[in-house]
Amino acid sequence: MFFHICHLAVILSISFSAVSGSPRIKPRIIGGVEVYDRCRPPFNWMVALRMNSPAGPVTFCSAVMLDNTTLVTAGRCISQFVTTSISPGVAVVGERDLLGVDRFEQTIPIESIRLHPDYNRVTYDNSVGLIRLAYPARLSQCVKPAQKMEDDPDACQDLDTSCVMAGWGPYAEATQPTNSRVVRSAPVTVYGDFVTLQLELTRTQQYQPQGSLYAEAINPRQKACFFDWGGVVSCVRNGNTVLRGFVSEHNCNANPAPPILITNVPDFEQWIDACQRNWASVTCTGRPVA
Ligand SMILES: *[C@@H]1O[C@H](CO)[C@@H](O)[C@H](O)[C@H]1NC(C)=O
Repeated sequence: MFFHICHLAVILSISFSAVSGSPRIKPRIIGGVEVYDRCRPPFNWMVALRMNSPAGPVTFCSAVMLDNTTLVTAGRCISQFVTTSISPGVAVVGERDLLGVDRFEQTIPIESIRLHPDYNRVTYDNSVGLIRLAYPARLSQCVKPAQKMEDDPDACQDLDTSCVMAGWGPYAEATQPTNSRVVRSAPVTVYGDFVTLQLELTRTQQYQPQGSLYAEAINPRQKACFFDWGGVVSCVRNGNTVLRGFVSEHNCNANPAPPILITNVPDFEQWIDACQRNWASVTCTGRPVA
Protein backbone atom coordinates (compact mmCIF):
# COMPACT_ATOMS: atom_id res chain seq x y z
CA MET A 1 0.00 0.00 0.00
CA PHE A 2 1.37 3.41 -0.92
CA PHE A 3 -0.15 5.37 1.94
CA HIS A 4 0.55 4.43 5.49
CA ILE A 5 -2.66 4.32 7.50
CA CYS A 6 -1.92 7.67 9.15
CA HIS A 7 -1.85 9.38 5.71
CA LEU A 8 -5.16 7.89 4.81
CA ALA A 9 -6.95 9.08 7.93
CA VAL A 10 -5.99 12.70 7.42
CA ILE A 11 -6.77 12.75 3.72
CA LEU A 12 -10.22 11.41 4.51
CA SER A 13 -10.77 14.02 7.18
CA ILE A 14 -9.61 16.85 4.89
CA SER A 15 -11.87 15.82 2.05
CA PHE A 16 -14.75 15.27 4.43
CA SER A 17 -14.57 18.78 5.85
CA ALA A 18 -14.04 20.25 2.37
CA VAL A 19 -17.20 18.56 1.15
CA SER A 20 -19.42 19.26 4.14
CA GLY A 21 -18.02 22.76 4.70
CA SER A 22 -18.87 22.38 8.39
CA PRO A 23 -16.58 23.78 11.08
CA ARG A 24 -14.49 21.04 12.58
CA ILE A 25 -14.29 22.73 15.96
CA LYS A 26 -17.80 23.24 17.26
CA PRO A 27 -18.48 24.02 20.92
CA ARG A 28 -15.99 26.73 21.69
CA ILE A 29 -14.47 25.55 24.92
CA ILE A 30 -10.92 26.76 25.11
CA GLY A 31 -8.05 25.14 26.90
CA GLY A 32 -7.27 21.75 28.28
CA VAL A 33 -6.47 20.32 31.67
CA GLU A 34 -4.69 22.28 34.39
CA VAL A 35 -1.09 21.21 34.85
CA TYR A 36 -0.17 21.02 38.54
CA ASP A 37 2.99 18.90 38.26
CA ARG A 38 4.74 21.35 35.99
CA CYS A 39 8.31 20.34 36.95
CA ARG A 40 8.59 17.98 34.00
CA PRO A 41 8.98 18.46 30.24
CA PRO A 42 7.62 20.31 28.38
CA PHE A 43 6.13 22.42 31.19
CA ASN A 44 9.44 23.12 32.95
CA TRP A 45 10.64 24.75 29.67
CA MET A 46 7.85 27.33 29.74
CA VAL A 47 8.30 30.99 30.59
CA ALA A 48 5.49 33.53 31.01
CA LEU A 49 5.88 36.90 29.24
CA ARG A 50 4.27 39.61 31.31
CA MET A 51 3.69 43.29 30.75
CA ASN A 52 1.85 46.01 32.59
CA SER A 53 -1.45 47.23 31.25
CA PRO A 54 -3.81 49.85 32.66
CA ALA A 55 -5.77 46.91 34.14
CA GLY A 56 -2.68 45.43 35.80
CA PRO A 57 -0.05 42.88 34.77
CA VAL A 58 -1.02 40.68 31.82
CA THR A 59 0.63 37.45 30.72
CA PHE A 60 0.28 38.17 27.02
CA CYS A 61 2.36 35.29 25.63
CA SER A 62 4.66 32.53 26.66
CA ALA A 63 8.13 31.51 25.54
CA VAL A 64 10.29 28.40 25.64
CA MET A 65 13.69 28.34 27.33
CA LEU A 66 16.56 27.39 24.99
CA ASP A 67 19.39 28.05 27.43
CA ASN A 68 19.68 29.92 30.72
CA THR A 69 19.55 33.36 29.02
CA THR A 70 17.73 32.72 25.71
CA LEU A 71 14.03 32.16 25.07
CA VAL A 72 12.18 31.52 21.83
CA THR A 73 8.66 32.78 21.12
CA ALA A 74 6.20 33.64 18.37
CA GLY A 75 6.82 36.61 16.05
CA ARG A 76 3.61 38.32 17.11
CA CYS A 77 4.69 38.25 20.77
CA ILE A 78 7.64 40.57 20.18
CA SER A 79 7.08 42.33 16.83
CA GLN A 80 5.30 45.29 18.49
CA PHE A 81 8.37 45.94 20.66
CA VAL A 82 10.76 46.03 17.69
CA THR A 83 9.06 48.96 16.00
CA THR A 84 8.06 50.97 19.08
CA SER A 85 9.70 52.05 22.31
CA ILE A 86 7.23 50.06 24.42
CA SER A 87 9.05 47.90 26.94
CA PRO A 88 8.77 44.18 26.23
CA GLY A 89 8.08 43.62 29.93
CA VAL A 90 9.50 40.82 32.00
CA ALA A 91 10.01 37.07 31.70
CA VAL A 92 8.65 34.98 34.54
CA VAL A 93 10.70 31.79 34.63
CA GLY A 94 9.29 28.88 36.61
CA GLU A 95 5.83 30.44 36.58
CA ARG A 96 3.10 28.23 37.98
CA ASP A 97 0.19 30.27 39.27
CA LEU A 98 -0.14 33.67 37.57
CA LEU A 99 -1.77 35.17 40.67
CA GLY A 100 0.76 33.89 43.20
CA VAL A 101 4.52 34.00 43.77
CA ASP A 102 5.67 30.43 43.30
CA ARG A 103 8.62 28.65 44.83
CA PHE A 104 10.64 28.41 41.61
CA GLU A 105 9.48 31.67 40.10
CA GLN A 106 12.14 34.14 38.90
CA THR A 107 11.04 37.44 37.39
CA ILE A 108 13.83 38.54 35.06
CA PRO A 109 13.93 41.74 32.97
CA ILE A 110 14.25 41.33 29.21
CA GLU A 111 17.59 42.70 28.00
CA SER A 112 16.89 42.61 24.25
CA ILE A 113 14.90 40.87 21.56
CA ARG A 114 15.51 39.58 18.04
CA LEU A 115 12.68 39.17 15.58
CA HIS A 116 13.35 36.91 12.58
CA PRO A 117 14.46 39.24 9.74
CA ASP A 118 11.85 37.74 7.38
CA TYR A 119 8.92 37.76 9.80
CA ASN A 120 5.74 38.86 8.07
CA ARG A 121 3.01 40.12 10.37
CA VAL A 122 0.30 39.65 7.77
CA THR A 123 1.11 36.16 6.49
CA TYR A 124 2.88 34.90 9.67
CA ASP A 125 5.85 33.75 7.59
CA ASN A 126 8.90 33.09 9.81
CA SER A 127 6.98 33.67 13.01
CA VAL A 128 9.86 33.34 15.43
CA GLY A 129 11.69 35.63 17.80
CA LEU A 130 14.30 35.35 20.51
CA ILE A 131 14.49 36.98 23.91
CA ARG A 132 17.68 37.54 25.85
CA LEU A 133 17.29 37.76 29.61
CA ALA A 134 19.13 40.47 31.53
CA TYR A 135 20.82 37.73 33.60
CA PRO A 136 20.76 33.91 33.53
CA ALA A 137 17.89 32.02 35.08
CA ARG A 138 18.75 29.54 37.83
CA LEU A 139 18.06 26.10 36.46
CA SER A 140 16.37 23.37 38.48
CA GLN A 141 14.06 20.44 37.91
CA CYS A 142 11.29 23.03 37.46
CA VAL A 143 13.30 25.38 35.20
CA LYS A 144 14.99 23.65 32.30
CA PRO A 145 16.03 24.40 28.72
CA ALA A 146 13.98 22.56 26.08
CA GLN A 147 15.26 19.34 24.61
CA LYS A 148 15.94 19.64 20.86
CA MET A 149 13.90 17.82 18.25
CA GLU A 150 15.37 14.42 17.30
CA ASP A 151 15.03 12.13 14.31
CA ASP A 152 13.05 9.02 15.11
CA PRO A 153 12.44 6.49 12.34
CA ASP A 154 9.36 5.25 14.18
CA ALA A 155 7.67 8.65 14.47
CA CYS A 156 4.62 9.29 12.31
CA GLN A 157 5.78 12.24 10.20
CA ASP A 158 2.45 13.11 8.66
CA LEU A 159 0.04 12.82 11.53
CA ASP A 160 1.95 13.02 14.78
CA THR A 161 -0.38 12.25 17.68
CA SER A 162 2.42 12.14 20.28
CA CYS A 163 2.23 15.90 20.90
CA VAL A 164 0.87 18.33 23.47
CA MET A 165 0.45 22.12 23.53
CA ALA A 166 0.39 24.26 26.64
CA GLY A 167 -0.28 27.87 27.52
CA TRP A 168 -1.78 30.39 29.91
CA GLY A 169 -4.51 31.36 27.47
CA PRO A 170 -8.16 31.63 28.43
CA TYR A 171 -9.91 28.41 29.30
CA ALA A 172 -13.51 29.46 29.00
CA GLU A 173 -15.49 31.29 26.38
CA ALA A 174 -15.82 34.94 27.32
CA THR A 175 -16.10 38.28 25.57
CA GLN A 176 -13.11 39.54 27.58
CA PRO A 177 -10.23 37.10 27.30
CA THR A 178 -8.80 36.20 30.68
CA ASN A 179 -5.75 34.09 31.44
CA SER A 180 -5.86 30.67 32.97
CA ARG A 181 -4.11 31.02 36.37
CA VAL A 182 -2.34 27.70 35.90
CA VAL A 183 -0.79 26.39 32.67
CA ARG A 184 -3.23 24.27 30.72
CA SER A 185 -2.29 21.59 28.29
CA ALA A 186 -4.08 19.64 25.58
CA PRO A 187 -2.99 16.73 23.37
CA VAL A 188 -2.58 17.78 19.74
CA THR A 189 -1.95 16.16 16.40
CA VAL A 190 0.82 17.96 14.53
CA TYR A 191 0.48 17.70 10.76
CA GLY A 192 3.70 17.23 8.81
CA ASP A 193 4.75 19.42 5.84
CA PHE A 194 2.89 17.33 3.30
CA VAL A 195 -0.39 17.25 5.19
CA THR A 196 -0.15 20.91 6.20
CA LEU A 197 0.30 21.87 2.56
CA GLN A 198 -2.68 19.80 1.41
CA LEU A 199 -4.80 21.36 4.12
CA GLU A 200 -3.73 24.90 3.22
CA LEU A 201 -4.26 24.35 -0.51
CA THR A 202 -7.77 23.08 0.25
CA ARG A 203 -8.51 26.00 2.57
CA THR A 204 -6.90 28.96 0.85
CA GLN A 205 -5.30 27.76 -2.43
CA GLN A 206 -1.98 29.00 -0.99
CA TYR A 207 1.13 27.70 0.69
CA GLN A 208 1.22 27.67 4.46
CA PRO A 209 3.30 30.40 6.13
CA GLN A 210 7.04 29.81 5.88
CA GLY A 211 8.36 27.67 8.73
CA SER A 212 4.96 26.67 10.05
CA LEU A 213 2.86 23.56 10.44
CA TYR A 214 -0.73 23.02 11.36
CA ALA A 215 -1.95 21.22 14.44
CA GLU A 216 -5.36 20.30 15.73
CA ALA A 217 -6.38 19.46 19.29
CA ILE A 218 -7.19 15.77 19.55
CA ASN A 219 -10.27 16.65 21.60
CA PRO A 220 -12.11 18.89 19.11
CA ARG A 221 -13.57 20.97 21.96
CA GLN A 222 -10.09 22.22 22.85
CA LYS A 223 -8.13 24.85 20.99
CA ALA A 224 -5.54 27.57 21.38
CA CYS A 225 -6.64 31.18 21.71
CA PHE A 226 -5.50 34.65 22.85
CA PHE A 227 -2.45 34.59 25.14
CA ASP A 228 -1.57 31.02 24.13
CA TRP A 229 0.81 32.54 21.57
CA GLY A 230 4.32 31.20 22.09
CA GLY A 231 2.89 28.26 24.04
CA VAL A 232 5.04 25.17 23.78
CA VAL A 233 4.25 22.29 21.40
CA SER A 234 6.23 19.18 22.26
CA CYS A 235 6.23 15.73 20.69
CA VAL A 236 7.80 12.41 21.62
CA ARG A 237 10.91 11.23 19.75
CA ASN A 238 12.80 8.08 20.80
CA GLY A 239 10.84 8.14 24.04
CA ASN A 240 11.94 11.71 24.85
CA THR A 241 9.76 14.81 25.04
CA VAL A 242 11.29 17.21 22.50
CA LEU A 243 10.55 20.75 21.27
CA ARG A 244 8.55 20.66 18.06
CA GLY A 245 7.42 24.25 18.07
CA PHE A 246 5.07 26.76 19.67
CA VAL A 247 1.69 28.26 18.99
CA SER A 248 2.12 30.98 16.39
CA GLU A 249 -1.48 31.98 15.80
CA HIS A 250 -4.96 30.63 16.20
CA ASN A 251 -7.91 32.65 15.09
CA CYS A 252 -10.16 30.96 17.62
CA ASN A 253 -13.07 33.28 16.87
CA ALA A 254 -13.27 32.47 13.16
CA ASN A 255 -16.08 30.23 12.06
CA PRO A 256 -15.02 27.71 10.96
CA ALA A 257 -11.87 28.08 13.06
CA PRO A 258 -8.76 27.35 11.00
CA PRO A 259 -6.31 24.78 12.37
CA ILE A 260 -3.77 25.96 14.96
CA LEU A 261 -0.71 27.45 13.30
CA ILE A 262 2.50 26.38 14.98
CA THR A 263 6.05 27.49 14.24
CA ASN A 264 8.25 24.54 13.31
CA VAL A 265 11.31 25.28 15.45
CA PRO A 266 13.74 22.88 13.63
CA ASP A 267 13.25 25.02 10.48
CA PHE A 268 14.89 27.92 12.35
CA GLU A 269 17.74 26.06 13.99
CA GLN A 270 20.40 27.79 11.85
CA TRP A 271 19.11 31.26 12.62
CA ILE A 272 18.75 30.45 16.32
CA ASP A 273 22.28 29.01 16.45
CA ALA A 274 23.67 32.10 14.69
CA CYS A 275 21.98 34.35 17.26
CA GLN A 276 23.13 32.25 20.20
CA ARG A 277 26.71 32.42 18.86
CA ASN A 278 26.58 36.12 18.04
CA TRP A 279 23.56 38.20 19.05
CA ALA A 280 24.84 41.16 17.00
CA SER A 281 25.65 39.26 13.79
CA VAL A 282 24.06 40.22 10.48
CA THR A 283 22.51 36.76 10.21
CA CYS A 284 20.81 37.28 13.53
CA THR A 285 19.66 40.87 13.17
CA GLY A 286 19.07 40.87 9.40
CA ARG A 287 20.72 44.28 9.25
CA PRO A 288 24.24 45.14 8.11
CA VAL A 289 26.45 45.97 11.09
CA ALA A 290 27.10 49.70 11.36
C1 LIG B 1 24.40 29.68 32.12
O1 LIG B 1 24.89 28.89 31.04
C2 LIG B 1 26.25 29.13 30.74
C3 LIG B 1 26.59 28.40 29.46
O2 LIG B 1 26.06 27.13 29.43
C4 LIG B 1 27.11 28.76 31.92
O3 LIG B 1 28.48 29.01 31.64
C5 LIG B 1 26.67 29.58 33.13
O4 LIG B 1 27.39 29.14 34.27
C6 LIG B 1 25.18 29.40 33.39
N1 LIG B 1 24.79 30.35 34.44
C7 LIG B 1 24.01 30.00 35.46
C8 LIG B 1 23.69 31.08 36.45
O5 LIG B 1 23.54 28.89 35.60
